[in-house]
Amino acid sequence: MRFALSALLLAVSACAQDHTTEAGEAAIDDPALECAPYSYAPVHAAQASFPAIWQPVTSVPASDTVARAKFLAMNSSIPKIPPKGTLAGDFDAFSPTYSATDPDCWWTDTKCVTPKLSGLKPDIANVPEPRTLGYGFDDGPNCSHNAFYDYLTEKKQKATMFYIGSNVFDWPLQAQRAVADGHEICVHTWSHRYMTAFPNEGAFGELYYTMQAIKLVTGVTPTCWRPPFGDVDDRIRYIAAQLGLETIVWGYDSNDWAVGFNGVTAQAVQANYDALMADASAGKFNSSGAIILTHELNNFTMQTAMHNYPKLAAVFDHIVPVQVAQNKTQPYVETNYTMLDFASYVANRTGKSATSANSASSSNSSSSSSSSHGSGAQKVGKAGAGALRVSMLAVAGASAGVLVGAALWA
Ligand SMILES: *[C@@H]1O[C@H](CO)[C@@H](O)[C@H](O)[C@H]1NC(C)=O
Ligand SMILES: *[C@@H]1O[C@H](CO)[C@@H](O)[C@H](O)[C@H]1NC(C)=O
Ligand SMILES: *[C@@H]1O[C@H](CO)[C@@H](O)[C@H](O)[C@H]1NC(C)=O
Ligand SMILES: *[C@@H]1O[C@H](CO)[C@@H](O)[C@H](O)[C@H]1NC(C)=O
Ligand SMILES: *[C@@H]1O[C@H](CO)[C@@H](O)[C@H](O)[C@H]1NC(C)=O
Ligand SMILES: *[C@@H]1O[C@H](CO)[C@@H](O)[C@H](O)[C@H]1NC(C)=O
Ligand SMILES: *[C@@H]1O[C@H](CO)[C@@H](O)[C@H](O)[C@H]1NC(C)=O
Ligand SMILES: *[C@@H]1O[C@H](CO)[C@@H](O)[C@H](O)[C@H]1NC(C)=O
Ligand SMILES: [Zn+2]
Repeated sequence: MRFALSALLLAVSACAQDHTTEAGEAAIDDPALECAPYSYAPVHAAQASFPAIWQPVTSVPASDTVARAKFLAMNSSIPKIPPKGTLAGDFDAFSPTYSATDPDCWWTDTKCVTPKLSGLKPDIANVPEPRTLGYGFDDGPNCSHNAFYDYLTEKKQKATMFYIGSNVFDWPLQAQRAVADGHEICVHTWSHRYMTAFPNEGAFGELYYTMQAIKLVTGVTPTCWRPPFGDVDDRIRYIAAQLGLETIVWGYDSNDWAVGFNGVTAQAVQANYDALMADASAGKFNSSGAIILTHELNNFTMQTAMHNYPKLAAVFDHIVPVQVAQNKTQPYVETNYTMLDFASYVANRTGKSATSANSASSSNSSSSSSSSHGSGAQKVGKAGAGALRVSMLAVAGASAGVLVGAALWA
C-alpha cells in the first residue's frame, strides 16, 4: 500500500501536465493547452509594482524607491540625445532632421554597432569563434514552445532567449523552462517598442522592469539585451550599460517574424537561412562567426528553426549561445549561476574533455539529469484564479497600421 502510493506519487510528479510548475507546464504536449491562460501567484502578487503588460513604460514611480534611485543616479549623465520618431517606429518626420554622419550611432539608420560616444562597448553583432553560429531567439517566451524546446534538448543545443518582459509575466512557467533547460536569457524590453523613441525614464523602465520580471520569475537577472527591431543609439546604449546590460544585435536576419503579417513568404525566409548557410559553406566565417536573428514568436518561426537546425549544424562547426561564444561564464547578476565557456561547451556536447582551464562547474557530460538542468531557478509556483494576458498579435496589428517602410517586428 505504502509502496503503491509512493510509486503513484513518483509517476505523477514525473509527468503530470499542469500549469502549476515549470515541469508540469513543460510536460504539456498540446499547443492549445500550453497556451491556456493561468495565474502564477508570485506574478499576481507583484503585478501592482510593475508596469501594465504590453504598455510602453512611461515612468518609474516614486513609490518604487529602488528603481527611482537607480534612475536618478544615472539621469544627469545620460547623453543629451533627443528621442527619435515614434514608439511604433515611424521615423518619417525625424529622419530628414538627422545628420547623414549618424552622430548617435543609430543602428536603424546605418546599422552602426561601434558607438560614437566614448566609454561604450561596441554591440555584439557576430561571434569571435571561427565557423561558429551564435544561436538565439527573440520575442519569447511563447506559450506553445514545448515542442521547440524539447527539440533543442534532444539536440543537446542551448540558445540565447531574448525575452519580452510582458511575455514573461503572461507565461512565467514557460520562462522558467529556459533556465531549467540551460538556455541563457537576455532582455528584449517590456513592451517591444522602438527604444530610441522613448524618453530616458521610459527607456530605463523598459529595460529595468524586464530585468526584474525575469528575476522574479526565474531567479536570475540578465546581463544582456537585444533592442526590438535593432533600434538602438548611444543614448539607449548608455542606459543599458548603466543597468549592466550588453547590447546584442545580429549580422543575418531570417525575417521569420514577417511571414503572415505582410505578404512575406515562407520561401523568402528559407532563402535568408540559405544565404547564411551559403556564406558558411563558402568559408566566410573561417576567421570569425555569425549571429542570425530568429524568433520563438509563433508556430511558423519555431518550425522553421527546427527545419533548419540540421542544415546549420552541417555547415557550422559549432552552434552556441551568444554569451558562450564570448566565454561569459557568469551570464547573470547572481554569482552562483555559471555557464560553460566556449571550449567547455563544445567539449560537453561532444563528450570530450574540456581543454580550457576556465570551464564552469555547473555541469559536464557525465553529470546526472538533475544537474543537467541549470541552477538558480525558482521552479515552484501556484496556480490561482484570473489570468493576465494580451495578445502579441494585437500589438503587432496595432503597429502594422503605422508601419512606414520599416521592419514591423524583430
Ligand atoms: C533628468 O535629467 C534631465 C537633464 O538631463 C532633466 O531635465 C530631468 O528633469 C531629469 N529628470 C529627473 C526625473 O530628475
Ligand atoms: C574554410 O575552412 C574550411 C575548413 O577548415 C576549409 O575546408 C575551406 O577551404 C576554408 N575556406 C576558405 C575560403 O578559407
Ligand atoms: C505563440 O505561438 C502560438 C502558435 O503559433 C500563437 O498562436 C500565439 O499567438 C503565440 N503567442 C504570442 C504571444 O506570440
Ligand atoms: C505547426 O506547423 C507545422 C508545420 O507547418 C504543422 O504541421 C503543425 O500542424 C502546426 N501546429 C500548429 C499547432 O499549428
Ligand atoms: C574564449 O576562450 C578560448 C580559450 O578557451 C579562447 O581561445 C578565445 O579567444 C576566448 N574567446 C573570447 C571572446 O574571449
Ligand atoms: C565531469 O564530472 C565527473 C564526475 O563528477 C568528473 O570526474 C569529470 O572530471 C568531470 N569532467 C569535466 C570535463 O569537468
Ligand atoms: C552538458 O551535456 C549534458 C549531456 O548532453 C547536458 O545535459 C547538459 O545540459 C550540458 N551542460 C551544459 C551546461 O551545456
Ligand atoms: C543562488 O543564490 C540565490 C540567492 O541566494 C538562491 O536563491 C539560489 O537558490 C542559489 N542557486 C544556486 C544554484 O545555488
Ligand atoms: Zn523582437
